[in-house]
Amino acid sequence: MSEIHPTAPTVFLETFGCQMNELDSELVRGALTALGYRFIEDWTTANVVLYNTCSVREQAEHKAYSRLGLIAQRKRAGEQVVLGVIGCMAERDGKDMFRRYPQVDLLCGPGELDRLPNLIENTRKMQSLGEDAPRLSKDARSALAGNKSRRSTTLAAADDNLELLDLSRAFEPVNAASERRSAYVRITRGCNKFCTYCVVPNTRGAEVHRPPGSIVEECRRLADSGVVEITLLGQTVNHYRYVHGAAVGSDGLERPQIGPGLGAFRSSAVLSAGTRTTTFADLLARIHEEVPHLQRLRFVTSYPRDFGADVLGVMRDAPRICNYIHAPAQSGSDRILKLMNRGYTVREYLEFVERVFDFLPDATIAGDFIVGFPSETDEDFEATCALVQRIPFKNNYIFKYSPRPGTVAIDRFADDVPLETKKARNNRLLDIQTEVSRRVHESWVGREVEVLLEQVRTHNRQEKPVGAHISREASATLHPQSKNVELAWQRTKPLQGTQLLGRTPGDLITVIDVPEGTWGASLGQIRRVRVTGSSPMLLHGTLL
Ligand code: 5AD
Ligand code: SF4
Repeated sequence: MSEIHPTAPTVFLETFGCQMNELDSELVRGALTALGYRFIEDWTTANVVLYNTCSVREQAEHKAYSRLGLIAQRKRAGEQVVLGVIGCMAERDGKDMFRRYPQVDLLCGPGELDRLPNLIENTRKMQSLGEDAPRLSKDARSALAGNKSRRSTTLAAADDNLELLDLSRAFEPVNAASERRSAYVRITRGCNKFCTYCVVPNTRGAEVHRPPGSIVEECRRLADSGVVEITLLGQTVNHYRYVHGAAVGSDGLERPQIGPGLGAFRSSAVLSAGTRTTTFADLLARIHEEVPHLQRLRFVTSYPRDFGADVLGVMRDAPRICNYIHAPAQSGSDRILKLMNRGYTVREYLEFVERVFDFLPDATIAGDFIVGFPSETDEDFEATCALVQRIPFKNNYIFKYSPRPGTVAIDRFADDVPLETKKARNNRLLDIQTEVSRRVHESWVGREVEVLLEQVRTHNRQEKPVGAHISREASATLHPQSKNVELAWQRTKPLQGTQLLGRTPGDLITVIDVPEGTWGASLGQIRRVRVTGSSPMLLHGTLL
């Protein structure tokens, strides 16, 4: 590519945060690879260092800021390196980040990633002119949505360039031994829900739904290239809704479309006569039917409200759709749910769970909870504990509330629960969840399950564990507790031979002992397994 740098420039890219960020990173990787960049694992030598950042909680931000310090050291040592901050922190901090972290060369928000290759190219060109070259203006070094991020509903989503990034995805054949048998496909970007604690509507902008045709096509091409499992992504997937005929480009093709707000799901206004709409249930049914060679279809994250019987009906009738639902409850107290602007009561959440098990008796449910939300009393917290005890959650991700700049909660409510109390509540809820998880996993012992085999671990007395990492899918969440899965796995009885690690359709992580040397061809396959034992976070089984 560039004449200035005849050898392929190297890139180091680290991703923080959610699955949405994982997917963005994958797309960025594809776009830059196509332009001649080479990705490496070593941040100390890469020509370009990119951090794809998350703002959802304070902790993730601290980590990213500390990485910036490391690159400043490289720069001080006289190295030529392009440092880019992309994703939600770039959008949130905006150009102010250039002032606070002068080592940062470029900023790119999650809604502008199609412009990233240009930003990098420009910065590299300027750098190659030497130290005396004028620095590009802050505007020229940043691609941020700014005010645009909450564009009006009349937004010509038809002009949505970001869609091109999704559409430009590389469909390389997946090789047999590859762990990359799972892929993400975005169905919705952004969010219109405005939970008071959450920064996402500010960083990722208004909810935009991709046209069903593009989604189905992307799934088909991924399945053609050997992908076994697709996870559909959206902040609130079940609010997917595409009204046909409303956003059509000059080429006659459908374009992404702004979604209705929360209220739309309780009024009939949206569904005026004569319009044809693809709902989330329709979309699932279409993918299942039109991509018959896709073995597993999953989705995250669900919004507990408006999770209709139509979706559950499709899940029940479509054997390749996994009966797994991640639907964060956030709190077990109606008072706190109201302050959070979640739009449902505890009773409604319980009704939703009941409906899930009526339709799908084998379903697994997971969720998120926030402890220490402003004004949370012991009584509120006890209500949360009671909810966790009552529902057979396979797992819950538990977070201590942290006030996020730009949210309603930081302006309206004092962060008045002491950190010590937050920590104590966090630990107590984790203990309760561990017991619930133990029961859920135990209930599968003696049954047969299908496991997508993803990892292998070999132990012997001389060697260190090989590949002792949980699957990309299992670790690629913003949820720190996933580390516990790895710990649980490492704590399992001392190994003699080889273990395979995979997931059931319900996302239960399963460990299988196999004789040495027999696993070679099985990675990436779905195999039948008899469950012989369990622990709070794992199933143990044997291949059938
Ligand atoms: N503080 C703590 N946890 C938060 N989450 C989102 N925002 C905050 C916040 N300000 C949690 C919620 C959400 C998950 C992705 O992160 O539980 O479901
Ligand atoms: Fe984090 Fe939310 Fe941005 Fe994902 S969308 S990276 S969870 S702030």
